[in-house]
Amino acid sequence: MSDAPKGQSAGSPSGTGAPPGPIPAQRARVTAPELRRMKERGEKIAVVTAYDATFARMLDEGGADVLLVGDSLGMVVQGLDTTLPVTVDEMLYHCRAVARGARRSLVVGDMPFMSYQVSVEDALRNAGRFLAEGGVHAVKLEGGEAMAPTIARLVAIGIPVMAHVGLTPQSVHAMGGFKVQGRGDENAERILRDARAVADAGAFSVVLEGIPSELAARITSSIDAPTIGIGAGVSCDGQVLVCYDLLGLTPELKPKFVKRYAELFDAGRDATARYVDEVRSGAFPDAQHSFGAAAAKKDAPKDPGTKSGATPSKTPYGPSDA
Ligand code: KIV
Repeated sequence: MSDAPKGQSAGSPSGTGAPPGPIPAQRARVTAPELRRMKERGEKIAVVTAYDATFARMLDEGGADVLLVGDSLGMVVQGLDTTLPVTVDEMLYHCRAVARGARRSLVVGDMPFMSYQVSVEDALRNAGRFLAEGGVHAVKLEGGEAMAPTIARLVAIGIPVMAHVGLTPQSVHAMGGFKVQGRGDENAERILRDARAVADAGAFSVVLEGIPSELAARITSSIDAPTIGIGAGVSCDGQVLVCYDLLGLTPELKPKFVKRYAELFDAGRDATARYVDEVRSGAFPDAQHSFGAAAAKKDAPKDPGTKSGATPSKTPYGPSDA
């Protein structure tokens, strides 16, 4: 049997089957300007990637301030070796799903390789699609000084931009692999210039990926925009992790900067094995999970899809008794 609380079904993310209601006052949507105020107040910012509606809802309810629909989905969802083949249309599909699941978190869509580098016009058009078709509140793009004019134009037309400097995965071949950047004085100065340039261009926050902690601390104290670190130490204004890493869904990957807060791959594999056993033995489905006379017995448990059992829940897929 599953360890999950009775009544939780994959199609009813909260287990209640309740439709989304209005956002309570204390759960007002996080905004791009609010992140800057959080930096001013010295409050740390928690960012996590998300790729679908169910995870978005879980991570949002867990309190994440920002959900980043990262092009890392190319690696963890699509099974690619790099993020380079990910397309705008694929990103928009995942952005729409995450936007539907997120209630409080700011949703940021990651612009994929070659969707913003060819021309500013391209960048504007594609970024516009992320907001209009993807339902996100902001976009992220990789690059420092070279991308500053593009960021300035996007910001000027009202599209909030999260910048990304240091280890920029879309430049994996230029970097010779996914390697820590900014080692040595000259490289450190270049990344500091990159961070200043994108902050001056109006980026509302700057991801610092794969750089020494001391450099991240220096950057964080020299720009007003909040820095969001990944493999960049504790001095950043916030942190971001790939949700699959945080939840232990990538068992073969154990980079130094990742801390796992759960082991969901193991839990999911073990749950699947129990299910397979029960299907093979005929233990599943039992009367409690079947329709008809056996399920309607007086002593049958109340509908497991509700907290009180008073109102039968309906899964949004498949049959129901109602
Ligand atoms: O694509 C992504 O998930 C990212 C984060 C790791 C910052 O860019």
